[in-house]
Amino acid sequence: MARLYGFGQLLLASLVAAQQVFLAAEGPTTRPQCRGTKTREPKYSFTPFSFTLTDTVRYATSVPAPTATTTYAAPSEALITLLPSSLSYTTWSKWDPNATAKATDTDNPFGSAAWTALWEHANPPNFTEKALYSTTVSPTPIPSTELVLPPRDYFGPTDCYNFPEDFEFGVASSASQVEGATAEEGKSPSLMDILVQDDRPKAYVTNEFYYYYKQDIERVAAMGVKYFSFSIAWTRILPFALPGTPVNQQGIDHYNDMINFILEKGMVPVATLLHFDTPLQFYGSNLTKAADRPEIGYVNGAYQNETFPDAFVNYAKIVMTHYADRVPIWFTFNEPLLYSTNAKSIDHVIKSHARVFHFYKEELKGTGKISMKFNDNFGVPRDPNSEADVYAANHFNSLQLGPFCDPIFLGKDYPDSFKQTFPDFVPLSKEDLAYIGHTGDFLGIDPYTATVVCPPVPGVQESILDCARNSTSTYRPYCVNQTMVNVYGWDIGYKSFSYVYITPTYLRSYLNYLYNTWRVPVAITEFGFPVFSEAEMALSDQLFDTPRSQYYLSYMSEVLKAIWEDGVEVIAAFAWSGNDNWEFSSYDAHFGIQTVNRTTQQRNYKKSFFDLVDFMKARGVE
Ligand SMILES: *[C@@H]1O[C@H](CO)[C@@H](O)[C@H](O)[C@H]1NC(C)=O
Ligand SMILES: *[C@@H]1O[C@H](CO)[C@@H](O)[C@H](O)[C@H]1NC(C)=O
Ligand SMILES: *[C@@H]1O[C@H](CO)[C@@H](O)[C@H](O)[C@H]1NC(C)=O
Ligand SMILES: *[C@@H]1O[C@H](CO)[C@@H](O)[C@H](O)[C@H]1NC(C)=O
Ligand SMILES: *[C@@H]1O[C@H](CO)[C@@H](O)[C@H](O)[C@H]1NC(C)=O
Ligand SMILES: *[C@@H]1O[C@H](CO)[C@@H](O)[C@H](O)[C@H]1NC(C)=O
Ligand SMILES: *[C@@H]1O[C@H](CO)[C@@H](O)[C@H](O)[C@H]1NC(C)=O
Repeated sequence: MARLYGFGQLLLASLVAAQQVFLAAEGPTTRPQCRGTKTREPKYSFTPFSFTLTDTVRYATSVPAPTATTTYAAPSEALITLLPSSLSYTTWSKWDPNATAKATDTDNPFGSAAWTALWEHANPPNFTEKALYSTTVSPTPIPSTELVLPPRDYFGPTDCYNFPEDFEFGVASSASQVEGATAEEGKSPSLMDILVQDDRPKAYVTNEFYYYYKQDIERVAAMGVKYFSFSIAWTRILPFALPGTPVNQQGIDHYNDMINFILEKGMVPVATLLHFDTPLQFYGSNLTKAADRPEIGYVNGAYQNETFPDAFVNYAKIVMTHYADRVPIWFTFNEPLLYSTNAKSIDHVIKSHARVFHFYKEELKGTGKISMKFNDNFGVPRDPNSEADVYAANHFNSLQLGPFCDPIFLGKDYPDSFKQTFPDFVPLSKEDLAYIGHTGDFLGIDPYTATVVCPPVPGVQESILDCARNSTSTYRPYCVNQTMVNVYGWDIGYKSFSYVYITPTYLRSYLNYLYNTWRVPVAITEFGFPVFSEAEMALSDQLFDTPRSQYYLSYMSEVLKAIWEDGVEVIAAFAWSGNDNWEFSSYDAHFGIQTVNRTTQQRNYKKSFFDLVDFMKARGVE
């Protein structure tokens, strides 16, 4: 999940149609369905009382066992020939900062001593791994008593739409947020192990998914959810990160086992190559730089490092040659905007992505799909009737998605908003655009929320460009004023964090914007809701998470309207997240549809998990 912050005239007409427009109305809410039932004279009478209420007991049904295996590329043994023949495989062990014995292989640049030095250099603050597990836990079946559906909410969707055939429904997570085992089986340090060098909780243990993955997958399978989206940790595959360095055999084996277990359960693996956990090598000797505030995103992901693109492509090739036969859906980057430091970071991201796409389709001859997961807190105009506010919304949205999506989906140059704001951008040549263009099979979006925008000086469109040209303006980089309230001062959605409102009513408009702007199918690659202050609640109250159910059901209802009423091709929805997890500086932002007790590693299904699955299955999703 991301931190929740936040075209031309041609498309304006269709945009306006899908926008929230404020119409004045008088009197209470009308009830058009109630015409003809106006009587106000009830007839009272007595009858003998008895308990006649009945309820049904329903159980979640697990994903059926697989009947056939589909492959999406040649077997790994054949594909490995695409890698340099000099590639070597080795193993390292576990870092113990208290160890007194020192490795003696100091003349080996990739030996144990060199590997240990990576950890000593990272010097992760207060490093300790108080973990329960140090080896893969065997799964146990989920008792049926855990699989009884909760009572239905009184109010709920009453639509009659179904999801299209092959709609992909799943749960999502990322390596650093759930794996733990952070310095084990050869894994080297990443940005996530030092982020941030302050006293906030770290990712050292998290959900112990590295050893507990079978049970977690078993629990999702038991709920009947078919798609399992995870990320691979670069520093587990290549502890020394760079091309020509040895591959970690234990890392390769681990994700092989995990993918095989997902398949064994009848589920479908969905893999992301880089979900924020950049290897530390790209920060050079001064790790303090990792905490520098970027010009664009929120964290310095080091994508701008000159050695990054070749190294990323090398890593991607190694991963894909090992797993592409079994993984049908790939994401190169997760939410790259948020970890982009400057315009060069974006140049590196889109070009690396395109190289990986061409490798996958043309050399590896994979038949699966590739995209990225994008973030963007959809900007809606504060007053849809104000030209300045509509301009501000278009500027805001194009600046977040356009730098990636215009080249990748349209083969089109960067948007003006981007060039105006970052005059040092790397120009894209015709050849670049031909190579980068159409390298996404669909658009992956993590649409957590919407934000109400207007120009920095309300009503004054020019104030946006004045700000874009002003490198010290406080409104940079987006150069709009963002609020959570509509033009009448009301909050626009459901409260989640103290500062963010989740806004299902804008999702449909958002999906229209994405589909009609970039003209490819749209996959919702993350969506989820942190119930306000959930971490402070008793377990029983955490499990009865009605606000999260309302969020999921309302979002999915809007997805159905976008599909059936607007003709928008939405192909997938992956809930963030299968479990509560580490949200970068905290364990208290609960996005999970299961709880995790971090002392016992006990999981519990929340009500929203059942409600969401039931909603999907009732509408034909497998
Ligand atoms: C290292 O030793 C200290 C002091 O005994 C202990 O608190 C810490 O947990 C140990 N670290 C690890 C990773 O075992
Ligand atoms: C390390 O732990 C101590 C004691 O819990 C805490 O005061 C300090 O802030 C922590 N430092 C970091 C960098 O996390
Ligand atoms: C870029 O990454 C390389 C490792 O490939 C590193 O040696 C170098 O110091 C990094 N550059 C900067 C400016 O951090
Ligand atoms: C390391 O980087 C930080 C932040 O960019 C900077 O303030 C500091 O001077 C650098 N230290 C060295 C030794 O270069
Ligand atoms: C740029 O922005 C700063 C900070 O908001 C402001 O003080 C300054 O006047 C602006 N400069 C111009 C040329 O508008
Ligand atoms: C942002 O816009 C709103 C609505 O026009 C206004 O009330 C608020 O003061 C503005 N905020 C800033 C920091 O300018
Ligand atoms: C986690 O489990 C421990 C041991 O059973 C228990 O004491 C603690 O209250 C649990 N935590 C939560 C948040 O339920």
